[in-house]
Amino acid sequence: LHVAVLMGGWANERPVSLMSGNGVADALEARGHKVTRIDMDRQVAAKLAEAAPDVVFNALHGVPGEDGTVQGMMDLMGIPYTHSGLATSVIAIDKELTKLLLVPAGIPMPGGRIVKCADLYDKDPLPRPYVLKPVNEGSSVGVAIVTDEGNYGNPIARDTKGPWQEFAELLAEPYIRGRELTAAVLGDRALMVTELVPKSGFYDFDAKYTDGMTEHVCPAAIPEDITQLCLDYALKAHKVLGCRGVSRTDFRWDDERGQAGLFVLETNTQPGMTPLSLVPEQARHCGIEYDELCEIVIEDALR
Ligand code: DAL
Ligand code: MG
Repeated sequence: LHVAVLMGGWANERPVSLMSGNGVADALEARGHKVTRIDMDRQVAAKLAEAAPDVVFNALHGVPGEDGTVQGMMDLMGIPYTHSGLATSVIAIDKELTKLLLVPAGIPMPGGRIVKCADLYDKDPLPRPYVLKPVNEGSSVGVAIVTDEGNYGNPIARDTKGPWQEFAELLAEPYIRGRELTAAVLGDRALMVTELVPKSGFYDFDAKYTDGMTEHVCPAAIPEDITQLCLDYALKAHKVLGCRGVSRTDFRWDDERGQAGLFVLETNTQPGMTPLSLVPEQARHCGIEYDELCEIVIEDALR
């Protein structure tokens, strides 16, 4: 097949996407496919038209590769592509919109509300500790945890510098103490549960992408009922959102509260696909090597 691998772009997650894209491209080339690597810029439609691939492997993360924009463009161009389609992407990129679908389906997610930067100062929008995050970023870009100890000041003063400043609106959610879990779905099967144990602090951008800063425990050493719930919720989220190919659902689990302490944070429709990423790691534990995983994802796009 002739596969165009779309990567890069101008999102904050550009470096991650280049790692995902080049990893996928190398693997597909090694399997004998013809591969065109496309670094997405504003000429992306022209580049795709010129390449005229049989299928696009979408290795973009963030906006506009994960929010439906690029998906809509490829729909118009009549090019088959991997991962979720337009409508699913629009919803899943937005952590607040996602709740509107998943919570009524019986999937527990933390409450919270949308706030503007100006709402943060002088009075907390939620009781501490709480999390502030952009609605549509990935890889923990822009995330702040505001603690009881007043790590940003208590109350936050107007001249306080914080990761929220770049964003017009933020999602404020109660912070869930405890553990960080994730489960991938491939096709119609939830793969495994991994626990992420950062060596220090929280599972932020650096902890995600600096080798050795986070331990991946796969399969997670958690009770069987919690594993099963994670797998059930991940598969249900994948289905309710209408995801295609592969997705990865992230959780917080308050281990002092048993099943009632498990919350879905979000479903990623364009999860990291670097050879060391979580989805490839879970696939490998299920007997699916990285290059086979890439192949399954393109086959799925062509069905
Ligand atoms: N947003 C990053 C790439 C992930 O979900 O893995
Ligand atoms: Mg994410």
